[in-house]
Amino acid sequence: VADSTHLLHPMSELSEDRVADPTIFVRGHGVYVWDATGKRYIDAVAGLFNVMLGYGRRDLSEATARAMEELSFAKLFFNQGSASAALLAERLAQITPAGLDRFLLTVGGSDAAESAIKMARYYHASRGRPEKVTIIGRRDSYHGLSYGAMSITGNDAYATGYGPKPPGFAHIGQPNGPDAAAELEACILREGAETVAAFMAEPISLPAGVLVPPDGYWAEVRRICDRHDVLLISDEVCTGFGRTGRMFGMENWNVSPDLMTMSKGITSGYLPMAAVGVSNEVYEGIAAAAPMFLHGFTAGGHPVCSALALAVIDVMEQEDVVARAAETGGYLIEQCRALSADLDVVGDVRGLGMLVGFDLLGERSSKPGRAGMLGRLMFDDLLQRGMLIRYYGDTLVLSPPLVMTKSEVDEMLAMIEQSLRAELL
Ligand SMILES: Cc1ncc(COP(=O)(O)O)c(C=O)c1O
Repeated sequence: VADSTHLLHPMSELSEDRVADPTIFVRGHGVYVWDATGKRYIDAVAGLFNVMLGYGRRDLSEATARAMEELSFAKLFFNQGSASAALLAERLAQITPAGLDRFLLTVGGSDAAESAIKMARYYHASRGRPEKVTIIGRRDSYHGLSYGAMSITGNDAYATGYGPKPPGFAHIGQPNGPDAAAELEACILREGAETVAAFMAEPISLPAGVLVPPDGYWAEVRRICDRHDVLLISDEVCTGFGRTGRMFGMENWNVSPDLMTMSKGITSGYLPMAAVGVSNEVYEGIAAAAPMFLHGFTAGGHPVCSALALAVIDVMEQEDVVARAAETGGYLIEQCRALSADLDVVGDVRGLGMLVGFDLLGERSSKPGRAGMLGRLMFDDLLQRGMLIRYYGDTLVLSPPLVMTKSEVDEMLAMIEQSLRAELL
């Protein structure tokens, strides 16, 4: 079994005991993965919110192998490209919210966020408004960890130790109350609308505890952005490709953004891929700015990843995956609410589709004094029991593959209940 001595684990504790004892996965099938000792885990977090269609699908690996044999690389620079990248962009135009018509294909969620920020600023500059640069984000969000993405991610913990913060970013709170959208307008006015380029947010923020905004929030945000000539950037990296029971999260509120970032589910996690959709108006601004659009990444829109993404979208349509996610997601949240009714330590349950967060209440645990550590405790205990999960503070997040069956949901929740009873009651 390989150890991790030479592997620098990102987003990980680098203490000696943790590094010496990594969990190394060797195989996956459906909603399960197996580690190097042969132990099986049910994956309640779908890899990292991305393995929408489950592990080990032969149709996806065959589509990938065929694409790689045919054309192993083509750049998109210099007006060149591949048929698969062009077809993927066309397909994205069909399945994304109305108004998004042009697609920059990139590599991952962070570089999609970088690209969206740069394009928002570039668009305003091309219209003679170069002073419109500030990007407003929300505290407790997550948009990635490259410098720009990290700067919209309004969480100081991620920025500490990495030098001066880049200028041109501002933050508001998460939509907790009925007047949440008003905070955006107040921020735009405080900054000066003439300096604000865009507002960027996730339709539902996971780090904020799967915070489903109040009805009317997104429509009001859209109106505020329009009023102040501020672009609306929706980060659908987690909520895209069926996660919330709709193809994209914003469809839950019938709101179209001006730019939209997506990644993760676009290839069901089988290979890295991301995209930024932009409206025709933004595209035309960018196209008119200069003879050349000086932005892009070598591996952006890789022909093999593009062919895989097309195969993923085919499967989603043929197998009605989004409607199934809505149906199984309804069952999932019902069962989580039943757990909350049964067990005092489970508090509020929130979610949409195959995305649920529930709070653990430290003060109701028989072992007090561990508030803030309950998520971590459950993560470790469930790993021992054979389940992969994500937590933020004392909130557990369930975001399994969209193809999980109801009996697998039962298995997942039975394991969580056993763990809660053993660890907290
Ligand atoms: C909403 C959101 N945006 C952006 C990112 C960054 O993606 P990546 O890790 O691929 O850079 C993530 C990653 O989890 C995310 O959840």
